[in-house]
Amino acid sequence: MLTLPKEVTIIEVGPRDGLQNEKSFVPTEVKKLFILALKTAGIQEMELTSFVSPKWVPQMGDAADIVANCLDGQTRNIVLVPNRKGFDRVFATNCSAVAVFVGVSNTFNQKNINKTTKDSLEELVPILRELKEKHYFVRACISTAFHCPYEGKISEEDTIKLCREFARAGVDELSVADTIGMAAPHEAYSLFSKLVQEFPHVLLTAHFHDTRKMALANILASLQAGITRFDTSAGGLGGCPFAPGASGNAATEDVVYMLERMGIRTGIDLDRLTAAINIVLPHLSRPIDSGFYRLHAKSVQSHE
Ligand code: HMG
Ligand code: MG
Repeated sequence: MLTLPKEVTIIEVGPRDGLQNEKSFVPTEVKKLFILALKTAGIQEMELTSFVSPKWVPQMGDAADIVANCLDGQTRNIVLVPNRKGFDRVFATNCSAVAVFVGVSNTFNQKNINKTTKDSLEELVPILRELKEKHYFVRACISTAFHCPYEGKISEEDTIKLCREFARAGVDELSVADTIGMAAPHEAYSLFSKLVQEFPHVLLTAHFHDTRKMALANILASLQAGITRFDTSAGGLGGCPFAPGASGNAATEDVVYMLERMGIRTGIDLDRLTAAINIVLPHLSRPIDSGFYRLHAKSVQSHE
């Protein structure tokens, strides 16, 4: 018999992970409408954008504008930050929730943020302590927690060690990522069971990319391991530009559909979510191929 929670929290990462890899720049005004529509659909926690180098990720070059216009008192609006320079930019805004991101794989970390994992930790941990004193909500995204496009299989022990470093630094949340969508359900179950045991006081979130169409199976396995928070992306958009082969995140609409069908509340309205996807769709360089969207999109008018 399946042991299931009554409700699950969806952390929408579409405006950040979803759009960062898009070929053509999605106009800032469209992003703002997309973000608003996602909130209207019931999203309570969201990665809005990232304060990374616009030379590395041009799509996120409008981070300051997005934050200036999309903060609200109700949603947890998170921004990703790679380094001290990024934090200086965040401190010039009213944003109060941040995410850092570090790879368990050293090679991936170097490709992604041009530093070793150790150097990233040395730079970030003192900043995180500072942020906690200032009452920021702090999330740490643990990339390549299962497999790395450069180093292959990552050991559970290495992933847990990195999680420990961030837990010691006092983060509120660990978002543990299958960056290239290669984890299988038994790996998700095994790692998340251990994390749930070891970090009972940290919010634990699973972040699955759906490259090999295993995200829903991994989410079910993670639910069984006691995880009740999932990063997902409307339309299944997403992928890290510095992780070859990475494609979209688990599609929010497919995850919400599955969970609600299982009697697990998400608080998200699927028609409104479809309308949010319709806002951004004309500006994308790829089709939406989530199962739910393909079946239901035509019946829902955009709320634009
Ligand atoms: P670098 O070239 O080593 O940086 O890049 P630098 O310190 O040598 O500076 C070079 C230039 O960038 C300078 O400008 C800096 O001012 C500027 P210049 O003098 O040449 O005009 N710069 C910045 N500008 C704006 N914001 C900043 C910033 N830092 C430096 N924060 C850096 C290092 C970290 C900046 C770069 O590697 C970078 O931006 N990387 C971001 C990569 C990224 O966004 N990846 C995707 C997000 S992670 C992800 O998707 C995974 C996740 O979803 C989980 C999963 O699935 O695994 C979270
Ligand atoms: Mg990701």
